[in-house]
Amino acid sequence: MKLPLMLFKQCFFGGFFVNNKSRIKVGIIGVGNCAKSLVEGIQYYVQNPDDKVGLMYQDIGGYTVEDIEFVIGFDIDSRKVNQPLGKALRAAPNCAMDHVKEIDNTCVAEGAKVYYSPVLDGVADYMLDFPEEVSFRISKDEVKTMDEIISLIKESKVDVLINYLPVGSEEATRFWVDVALAAGVHFVNCIPTIIATEDTQEIEQRFIDAGLTIVGSDMRSAWGSSRMSEILQGAMLDSGLIVTQHIQMNMASGSTQGQHYIRTGRTANTDFLNMSKQERLENKHISKENVLKGQNIVRDESICGMTLFAGPSLTVQQKPGGQYVGTDNKVANFDIVAYGFGRARYEITGRLSVQDSPNSGGVVVSAIRFCKVASEMGIVGFLRGPSAWTQKTPPLQLRSSDSKFECDALARRVFTDLTTPQKKENNPVAKNLPYTFQASKNDYV
Ligand SMILES: NC(=O)c1ccc[n+]([C@@H]2O[C@H](COP(=O)([O-])OP(=O)(O)OC[C@H]3O[C@@H](n4cnc5c(N)ncnc54)[C@H](O)[C@@H]3O)[C@@H](O)[C@H]2O)c1
Repeated sequence: MKLPLMLFKQCFFGGFFVNNKSRIKVGIIGVGNCAKSLVEGIQYYVQNPDDKVGLMYQDIGGYTVEDIEFVIGFDIDSRKVNQPLGKALRAAPNCAMDHVKEIDNTCVAEGAKVYYSPVLDGVADYMLDFPEEVSFRISKDEVKTMDEIISLIKESKVDVLINYLPVGSEEATRFWVDVALAAGVHFVNCIPTIIATEDTQEIEQRFIDAGLTIVGSDMRSAWGSSRMSEILQGAMLDSGLIVTQHIQMNMASGSTQGQHYIRTGRTANTDFLNMSKQERLENKHISKENVLKGQNIVRDESICGMTLFAGPSLTVQQKPGGQYVGTDNKVANFDIVAYGFGRARYEITGRLSVQDSPNSGGVVVSAIRFCKVASEMGIVGFLRGPSAWTQKTPPLQLRSSDSKFECDALARRVFTDLTTPQKKENNPVAKNLPYTFQASKNDYV
């Protein structure tokens, strides 16, 4: 006998019934390149179900890519504000590669729009000096107030808000954390803010009190320089070596896929242009180095006297003239020195060239679903496993194998020693949960 369609929507998962599962509604703060790649990538996978390459998790607690829907966006750029979300994602200065011919309503809700939210410290003055084709331009429309934004988020029934603001948006992130808590939505903090332990604890307590989940901070890519550094650093330590120097230098260089024909005028994407001045970079630098230090800390290995450096080091800018287009291609160079058996010396040099924004989509597509599933399981606060797997500065640094184990368990809706104390019914208190101490200043200051 055939079951009615409604019953097909009910799926059994790891001992849980997900009744009448509805789509996860997502709101985007900062409709830039990473947002473009995430939305287009999800549309691509839904429309090409046989292609699974690049999807770390096809199924997280019963949710697949088909279950993600983008319902609202917030930005400050005159070319994006008041536009339909799909159109804004393709507007300049976004330059990430296209994954689909056009953005349709496969995963963008009908009527989803981009609203003008407060600029605060989102835009550095020097961004306005770059040509408009490749940089930000602030809208002159009327900006929405916090109360209006909270109402819009509630009306759109957002489940998860993603913070994709430019690096250095400290005040703006605080604004959006307040919005998320007031609107009752989960939060994925993809940028290097809220990285010092005392800030993280304070924010975590507020999310616990509100019965919400948070993943953060500062997303890493599916296979980017942070993952490379983490794996190499961890594997060398596990092989009994000491790593005395680990330098990871990142720069914008090359071409966005599909734009290789452009000979002159290529320049960095807005993320790299924004990071071209040191004043905006402090937290990014600390967060990137936390990846290296983290692998020592979890193994109780000292970093005393080691040369560890990871950071955006160079933003290649073209001379005026030519056809100005941003490039989403990023190159990371690695220079590692280690010592092993009988004081023998090892040297590794490496180079990774990637399309930056799609690479980040490969982790956020999972982070969104982890928030939703964890909350359905009654977990509150920072998701330690998914944060360690998808972000550079999680509240708790973990070995790669341990963070993957935690994610796999959550994807099967199974509790672990880390998630059980975070069940709402166990009344978790942030200060009593496990943390890796992370300073607000780097160690050398
Ligand atoms: N692989 C990656 O690309 C990667 C990895 C880790 C972290 N990140 C971080 O993720 C963030 C997003 O990266 P991106 O490449 O999409 O950047 P982007 O510059 O393409 O997008 C930022 C967007 O934010 C908007 N914006 C600026 N100020 C705003 C404000 N106050 N309110 C709302 N919107 C505002 C801009 O107009 C733009 O649309 C950056 O902080 C970046 O460093 C990216």
